[in-house]
Amino acid sequence: MHLLGTTDRPLRVAIIGSGPAGFFAAEPLLKSHLHCTVDMFDRLPVPFGLVRGGVAPDHPKIRGAIRTFEKLADNPRFAFLGNVTVGRDVSLDEMRHFYDAIVLATGAEADRPMNVTGEDMPGCHAAFSFVGWYNAHPDFSDCTFDLSQETAVIVGAGNVALDVARILLTPADHLRHTDIAQHALDALAESRVREVHIVARRGPAQVKFSLADLKEMGAIPGCTPVVLEEDIALEDASAKEIDTPDLQRIMQVFGEYAAARPAPAPRGLFFRFLLSPHSVQGEGRVQSAVFEKNRLAGPPFRQSAEGTGDLVLMPCGLLFRSIGYHGVPIPGLPFSEQEGILPNTLGRVEYGGRPMPGVYAAGWIKRGPSGQIGTNKPDGHETAKALLADAASLPPCPEPDPQALRALLCSRGVRAVSFDDWRRIDAAEKARGAAAGKPRERFSRVEEMLAVIC
Ligand SMILES: Cc1cc2nc3c(=O)[nH]c(=O)nc-3n(C[C@H](O)[C@H](O)[C@H](O)COP(=O)(O)OP(=O)(O)OC[C@H]3O[C@@H](n4cnc5c(N)ncnc54)[C@H](O)[C@@H]3O)c2cc1C
Ligand SMILES: NC(=O)c1ccc[n+]([C@@H]2O[C@H](COP(=O)([O-])OP(=O)(O)OC[C@H]3O[C@@H](n4cnc5c(N)ncnc54)[C@H](OP(=O)(O)O)[C@@H]3O)[C@@H](O)[C@H]2O)c1
Repeated sequence: MHLLGTTDRPLRVAIIGSGPAGFFAAEPLLKSHLHCTVDMFDRLPVPFGLVRGGVAPDHPKIRGAIRTFEKLADNPRFAFLGNVTVGRDVSLDEMRHFYDAIVLATGAEADRPMNVTGEDMPGCHAAFSFVGWYNAHPDFSDCTFDLSQETAVIVGAGNVALDVARILLTPADHLRHTDIAQHALDALAESRVREVHIVARRGPAQVKFSLADLKEMGAIPGCTPVVLEEDIALEDASAKEIDTPDLQRIMQVFGEYAAARPAPAPRGLFFRFLLSPHSVQGEGRVQSAVFEKNRLAGPPFRQSAEGTGDLVLMPCGLLFRSIGYHGVPIPGLPFSEQEGILPNTLGRVEYGGRPMPGVYAAGWIKRGPSGQIGTNKPDGHETAKALLADAASLPPCPEPDPQALRALLCSRGVRAVSFDDWRRIDAAEKARGAAAGKPRERFSRVEEMLAVIC
């Protein structure tokens, strides 16, 4: 019998991905009675996943989750190896040589297409790219958005759609002292966007907005939310779905927006319902989006959008699809293309219906792209619990020397970024920000991040 989980032979766990799911999965491992070490990898030199690269710059309190993660990173049995792409710089098979267990917490790093004609034309974007751009995510630093257009349409009625609409409609002066990327602030300061239409394929009772985020849309300076009374009158089936205090309040907020008769404002946010994208039209660039009118079909809580055949044309110069994220396959692992996840039960990754020994998943790559930061805590804990329960039966890895993988990466010219390195990048970003009256000015390129520590 081997003794994995002792001080002589710690249980060596690699967590791939340093977003909330990765950190929340690390927590029980580091607190376990078993002696575990956690090496956390990220393809970026900087940690925290969407807490850094997704959460909107005007929601600084949400990024407070980072303090919890930093405390975990202080544990001497925790190490960060940023700037390492698993599946490119090191294969999963190679990782299994160095670790007894591997937790995939790689999130959902692709967007979902609408699959309609014309969606690839200039002026049509994934909300995913816009969010990455204003948060200085290196994948999106070269994106450009033509903000000389007056009307933007956002397809999808989730919180990401609200984030995109709020950033488009908030006067740049109100974003100036946030940590928004300077390139985005400069572009937004010149923006001519005056109207944003958020288009839902189902009705107001089925939106995925959080109450707080929806209410916030009524407080954007110089912007009026617009909802038509007739659009929020609910059929019986939808009325039955309003069964939580939050949903009741959401309907109340829509009601308040509909009832308000404010003075004309420079900008407007229009909520449109029961419309599915049909096609995107334009010569050389998007000039309008065509939607098919829907009716709801099915019993309460399972109502789907059913096309009526009637088409509506919405002139617009910008179109964002905000219809959800999608997981990306990891070379060497099974993948459910439809759900965008690693097939798993309670976090144990399965191949052909059987658990793969020592391979686990947490967060969006485990359950799909939904839920807030906190949702990943019970999710990550569940995965860690499964891993710890399996510990006694895990085959020990052949090369447990903590330096061995680092040496391999070094031999391949990969500069792994430690948590101390990250603290130096963090300090440099804060210093850049302070000069501009911002909490931080992020580096938007990997080379700039590495230049701080090399
Ligand atoms: C735009 C947006 C805004 C959001 N705002 C909020 C909010 O305000 N409040 C809230 O509570 N929730 C918010 N959420 C939800 C929250 O961010 C998610 O629930 C959470 O980040 C998912 O955690 P995760 O760890 O599964 O994925 P992620 O946070 O995406 O982390 C995945 C990590 O894996 C890394 N990675 C991927 N592939 C590899 C690889 N091959 N090798 C190494 N590393 C890899 C990535 O670089 C990334 O750091 C938001 C989500 C989005 C999309
Ligand atoms: N402030 C915050 O707390 C915050 C901020 C941002 C994100 N998040 C979280 O991050 C997660 C992801 O957010 P998200 O907004 O990307 O996704 P989401 O909440 O799943 O919303 C996606 C929206 O797109 C619609 N949709 C899906 N496929 C479509 C299609 N083919 N055509 C038209 N519409 C389509 C959905 O409609 P149906 O309902 O009809 O499917 C839904 O309205 C969510 O859990 C969200 O709460 C939280």
